[in-house]
Amino acid sequence: MTTMTAEGLDILASSSALGPIILKNRVIKSATFEGKTPNGHPTKALIDLHTEIARGGVAMTTVGCCNVSVDARNLDNQMYLHTDLHHGLKELCDEVHRAGAKISAQLTHCGFFKQNKPQSTRFTLAPSFQFNKLGAPNGRPFAISMSQKQIQSLLGDYCGAAEVAVKAGFDCVEIQMGHGYLLNQFLSPDHNRRRDQYGGSAENRMRLPLSIVKGVKKAVGNNAAVIAKINLDDAAKNGLRIEDYLGIGRRLEDAGIDAIVTSGGRSSGDTSFMFRGDSPIPAMARLQKNPISKIALKLFGHMQYRATPYHELYFMELAKKLRSVVDCPLVYLGGVSSPASAIEAMKEGFEFVAMGRALIKDPNFMNNLLQNSDYTNGCTHCNQCVALVYSPQGVHCVLNQSTKCAV
Ligand SMILES: Cc1cc2nc3c(=O)[nH]c(=O)nc-3n(C[C@H](O)[C@H](O)[C@H](O)COP(=O)(O)O)c2cc1C
Repeated sequence: MTTMTAEGLDILASSSALGPIILKNRVIKSATFEGKTPNGHPTKALIDLHTEIARGGVAMTTVGCCNVSVDARNLDNQMYLHTDLHHGLKELCDEVHRAGAKISAQLTHCGFFKQNKPQSTRFTLAPSFQFNKLGAPNGRPFAISMSQKQIQSLLGDYCGAAEVAVKAGFDCVEIQMGHGYLLNQFLSPDHNRRRDQYGGSAENRMRLPLSIVKGVKKAVGNNAAVIAKINLDDAAKNGLRIEDYLGIGRRLEDAGIDAIVTSGGRSSGDTSFMFRGDSPIPAMARLQKNPISKIALKLFGHMQYRATPYHELYFMELAKKLRSVVDCPLVYLGGVSSPASAIEAMKEGFEFVAMGRALIKDPNFMNNLLQNSDYTNGCTHCNQCVALVYSPQGVHCVLNQSTKCAV
């Protein structure tokens, strides 16, 4: 083994503040919903997975799809943050802390692309009326426009979920404003056609996401960092582009966000922009229980997930534009699966780097990187892990069955 001395590695290995918390280095495991909450509860499998990632040397691991209410979930096998989960969540946080890392909860609401049956309302809710192609096979072909009262109670849901997370021991909450989720739907005029104070101008479309940031910050105080994940490009016809997101980044900075995580694309549309690499549609179709969804995926799946050439740091050019207009900490995400890419992100002035698939492939990435200059991760971007969100056992790397990410 050799010790890596490349310029930039010192920064990657050094500690840094993220709002009120200190991260021991600059590497964060990004939110990757792992499908290990079959009954809506954190399971031993979920705890083991995040503990293994923590032991592998990252500074912080993120638990994806911590929904803010029962109807914020788009799949039945997701959890929503409520007080009944306190003990399970506390065990998860305690184990991750014992393993030497911090832990973040990604606060999500899917809005219109809900695939399961709403429990608290009759219809799926969204900023404006919307056809829901993902819900259609399950008899939920559309979502209706939220009332002002429902918007107000949404603010309470985000604050309540953040409080549950922090009480259980989470060090950070990440507000999901990208990937086509509800707050992204509010931001984007192709989904938000409202005529009240939440729609129309950029300022109005930003009103709800900003009030959620301010509300959540107030709710958690100095007990946790509050960060936001945004797109740099929706990659959708009539969706937002980098010029729009520069303004959104500035507004989040003004609202006191502790960091912005950079991403792109939509889970509700063509997801290849978000991931790059091979299309997992054949595997996804195999795993679908609903025969209509199976056929729909076989026939139309290529529109939702095209095989797209992968290259390292695929969001870097866009992310650098955001870097040039905000001073708040930025977490670079998208196509980091080599030590060189992680170091490059440091050299480009990003305070942190987040990784999804590379850590599913090898939770020990950071330890390996620090010990061995020849370390290669081996993720092939086959994206089979993405399809496994729908499997009963949840996500693992098909190339590496030896980790807790395996079953
Ligand atoms: C299996 C899987 C599940 C994911 N689930 C989420 C999620 O719950 N929330 C989210 O914001 N992003 C999710 N993502 C996207 C990742 O956070 C990240 O944006 C994407 O994998 C690109 O980063 P990478 O090149 O480091 O993998 C998921 C990715 C994978 C592979």
